[in-house]
Amino acid sequence: MKEFFTLDDFNLEDKYVAVRIDLNSDVINNKVIPNERFERHSRTIKELIEKNAKVILLAHQSRKGEPDFISLEQHAKILSNILKEYLKDDRFEIKFVNDIIGEKAENEIKKLKSGEVLLLDNVRFLEDEDIEKSFEEHRESSLVRFLSKFIDYFVLDSFSVAHRSHASIVGFAEIVPNIIGRVMQEEIESINKVLTPLGINAWLLGGAKIDDIIPILDHMFKNRPESIEKVLCGGLLANIFLLAKGYEIGNRSKEILEKKGLIKLIDKAKELYHKYYKEIELPDDVAIEYNGERKEISIENIPKDALILDIGSETIEKYKSILKHCRSVIIKGPMGMFEKQGFEKGTKELFEYIANLDDIISLVGGGDSSIAIDILKIPKKFTYISIGGGALLNYLSGKKMPGIEALKTSYIKFLNLKK
Ligand code: 3PG
Repeated sequence: MKEFFTLDDFNLEDKYVAVRIDLNSDVINNKVIPNERFERHSRTIKELIEKNAKVILLAHQSRKGEPDFISLEQHAKILSNILKEYLKDDRFEIKFVNDIIGEKAENEIKKLKSGEVLLLDNVRFLEDEDIEKSFEEHRESSLVRFLSKFIDYFVLDSFSVAHRSHASIVGFAEIVPNIIGRVMQEEIESINKVLTPLGINAWLLGGAKIDDIIPILDHMFKNRPESIEKVLCGGLLANIFLLAKGYEIGNRSKEILEKKGLIKLIDKAKELYHKYYKEIELPDDVAIEYNGERKEISIENIPKDALILDIGSETIEKYKSILKHCRSVIIKGPMGMFEKQGFEKGTKELFEYIANLDDIISLVGGGDSSIAIDILKIPKKFTYISIGGGALLNYLSGKKMPGIEALKTSYIKFLNLKK
């Protein structure tokens, strides 16, 4: 049964269409590093250009307080270059305005012609954007009130943010018809195909966004224990569990958890480990930075001032021996700081190992994982690479996703408007 509007349902010619995409990227030395998300969303944008819509793009970069919480000016240039190629038109430009709901944005929106595209600035610059609120509450948020004056349709193209109940994701549900974008549609269809009746039995989890992971693990263990046989931990997830078990992880590693506001997860981590210690696999050794170099060390001997930057070789072998017997695996997040020379080993060896296993279904999620695959030149022999991270885990856990719920609500409300 159909649950969402698709881009085939309406005539979008000359219509104002707001599109929520996800361009959230790594930023190194103030430079935005292009990633798979730009390529994928360009396909939806190209379709809208060819349909002669007036396209207003909404996107975010990072979170308030983070060093990479920057404007989207560079993102617009990266996207323009991809679209130039797709459209085979050297003169094509994505217009960018360093404003979201002010006079400058309003002028640019009014000037927009059919087939043109305007990217507004980082929507998370707005105070009331990234607060978890209901559709009804977000109807009143500044972005929704402002854009409602202009837009005819709203397209949600970013599966990767659909687990957030933010204004730019759910706020338009009852205001204009909400349409599922091609990228979001493809993500959901591909993930559904990959899911076996048994679910995912090994979860290789790392990266830095562990505030997304810990509640999902809790939910999975309680509600779908059959699809979570082994959790192989790396990255900050391994650090918080090691800390919860009473190991020294080094002051510099602890500082990172504190700065990111993750130390508060320690009680939940303790509780989880206590209940599920048979399923949760932790490193036996780690790689720390020592005089600027990689030094591997057992978890019993981590020095007080250490900074853990990767899992160690024994742990890599232990994880491989578990993965060898798995039917399916989800990968979310790198095992360490792969961007730093000498600390790519855990991520590279395990990702490569999984890519080369013949009889395993592998689902990769998260912006960082995709970047690691590109930078480390891992063969893309995975069953599916999703551009969603936290969103993918939420989806797999069966939790309701506000973005998907908004699309459903809008479908019911505007069904009589279909062309
Ligand atoms: C991501 O990179 O996974 C998405 O852009 C969501 O970002 P968030 O976790 O900051 O909401």
